[in-house]
Amino acid sequence: MILLGAPGAGKGTQAKLIAKKFQLAHIATGDLLRDSVAKETTLGVQAKEYMDKGELVPDQLVIDMIKERLTQSDALNGYILDGFPRTLQQAEKMIEVEDVDVVLNIDVDFNLLLERLTGRRSCSRCGEVFHIKYNPPTTENICDKCGAQLTQRADDKEEVIRNRLETYNNQTKPLIQFYKQRNILKNIRGSGTIEEIFENIVSALEEFK
Ligand code: AP5
Repeated sequence: MILLGAPGAGKGTQAKLIAKKFQLAHIATGDLLRDSVAKETTLGVQAKEYMDKGELVPDQLVIDMIKERLTQSDALNGYILDGFPRTLQQAEKMIEVEDVDVVLNIDVDFNLLLERLTGRRSCSRCGEVFHIKYNPPTTENICDKCGAQLTQRADDKEEVIRNRLETYNNQTKPLIQFYKQRNILKNIRGSGTIEEIFENIVSALEEFK
């Protein structure tokens, strides 16, 4: 399963819920890349330069990373891809590697995206995601799950967000048409509460079956 959507559409939030309900591995290229950046691996050092500017990491680096990730045992019983593919080249490569059953496109108004991204806070230890207004932690700036400090992602600054949204429009949005033509696309209205959107997704998946 693939989750498409603009930055801040709620892909990560929904992917976690879907993975839990359908017992799928949740594979998020953004998380894998941020982990590589934090560990200062060769990939991380190369990727950081692009991520800091809100640009896409070169296709080949991401394709190699995802191919390697898909060989891990938890991916063998099915997985949900969050943030991959993001270019036509990545999508074409993916088709060569594996069959895709369904693509969910979470559709959110531009104005909501900015508010969601500037208000996002992530746990520095376990990666749990919150929102200062829509999904606040019980204690300000402290993770409910593990008690560590919450931080703002480096690319959630307004000037970088604008670049990420432009990159999405130019390079990732064409994938909607790519999957529509293959009759595996489901559009999901991405406004509403996290729970409402999840219900829409579950209904769409039932219909699809
Ligand atoms: P990545 O980490 O994938 O970022 P993104 O696509 O920009 O998506 P986000 O993680 O920002 O948003 P999301 O849709 O997951 O929203 P979330 O659920 O967190 O990529 C980062 C960078 O890595 C890229 O810019 C690129 O450089 C590189 N990269 C990654 N993959 C790549 C690839 N394949 N090729 C090349 N480069 C790649 O929600 C956002 C906020 O809203 C949260 O605070 C959440 O709590 C809140 N929220 C969620 N749902 C709702 C709701 N219904 N109502 C109110 N608030 C909500």
